[in-house]
Formats: sequence, C-alpha cells, structure tokens
Amino acid sequence: MPRTSLPARLALLSLCALILAGCSSEVPDTHPDQPVTKRKQAFKAMLRSFEPMGTMLRDKRYDPDTFARLANELAGLRDQPWSHFGPDTNYPPTKALASVWEKPAEFEQRRQEFIAASDRLIAAAAARDEAQARSAYAAVQDSCKACHRDFRK
Ligand code: HEC
Repeated sequence: MPRTSLPARLALLSLCALILAGCSSEVPDTHPDQPVTKRKQAFKAMLRSFEPMGTMLRDKRYDPDTFARLANELAGLRDQPWSHFGPDTNYPPTKALASVWEKPAEFEQRRQEFIAASDRLIAAAAARDEAQARSAYAAVQDSCKACHRDFRK
C-alpha cells in the first residue's frame, strides 16, 4: 500500500462526502411558508411514534406503558399534517400526487378512516389490551397504506 499523506487523505474524504451529499440532496423547498417541508416533518414525527409500537408487537415485547405512551404521542401528532395541504402546495420536492387536490373528498375519506382507526388504537392502548392493540395497530397501518397507495408517489 503506498503511503498517502494525511492532508491528501482528508481531502479525498471530503471530496467523497461532497459527492454523496450532492447525490442525495433533494430539490430545496423554496416556498416562503414551506408547507411541503412542514407536512413531511409532521408525517415523519407520526412515524417515529407509530413504528416502535409495531416493532414491539412484532418482537413480542409488548410493554403496556410504553405502548400507551407512544399511542398518546400519535394522538397528539395525527392532526398535524393536514393543514399543510393547502391549495397551490403541489410543488417539488413533494411526493404527494395531484389526486390530493383533484379528489379532495376521497382524500378526506382516507384521512377520516385513519383518524377512526387510530381512535381504536388509542383506546386499546389505554385499556392495556395486547390483542386489541395488535388488531388496531394493523388497521391503522392499513389506513396509512391505503392513503399512500392513492395519494403518494
Ligand atoms: C389521508 C392520507 C394519508 C394518511 C392517512 C397517511 N399519510 Fe403519510 N403521506 C401522505 C401523503 C400525501 C404524503 C406525501 C407528502 C408530501 O411529500 O408532500 C405522505 C408522506 C408520508 C411520509 C414521508 C414523509 C417524507 O419525509 O417524505 C411518511 C413517513 C408518512 N407519510 C407516514 C405515514 C404514517 C406512518 C401514516 C399512518 C400512521 C400515514 N402516513 C398516514 C398521505 C397520508
């Protein structure tokens, strides 16, 4: 192996970092209010509470108190994304489909189904009932997927 000087290696490393960053960077959200960024952040926050519940159930490590805490977090986050889907907010870097704005009644229907399913999850979590939590969790997951199938790229 030829010996390379430390500065040369560092330069090479930062070049690699630059190239990687360039490849993964998205189109910037240039809208003054950044509704796309805000709704994406709101969905990611929901996922951060929702996903660990699923992991817990899948790994058979159901812990009633942690599960209830996560369900309550989800309850506090589930109303956040929707107000950021205003008119004229279909612009890059969104992954939303035009159908969100073209079929508002259907989008609202999917949203309502998600709210109703998450009501059942929150109730099951509060009741500390694993079997109920399991089926309610699956129903919420289906409601996320159903909306993504029709309204997200
Ligand atoms: C009523 C429709 C609807 C429901 C219900 C819904 N989503 Fe989404 N979700 C969307 C749309 C539309 C986008 C794309 C937003 C954008 O890119 O502008 C999205 C994007 C996301 C993203 C990607 C955010 C990003 O950084 O690009 C995640 C993660 C996500 N949703 C998680 C969830 C989870 C978890 C649930 C259920 C607990 C859920 N969603 C329920 C419509 C929905």
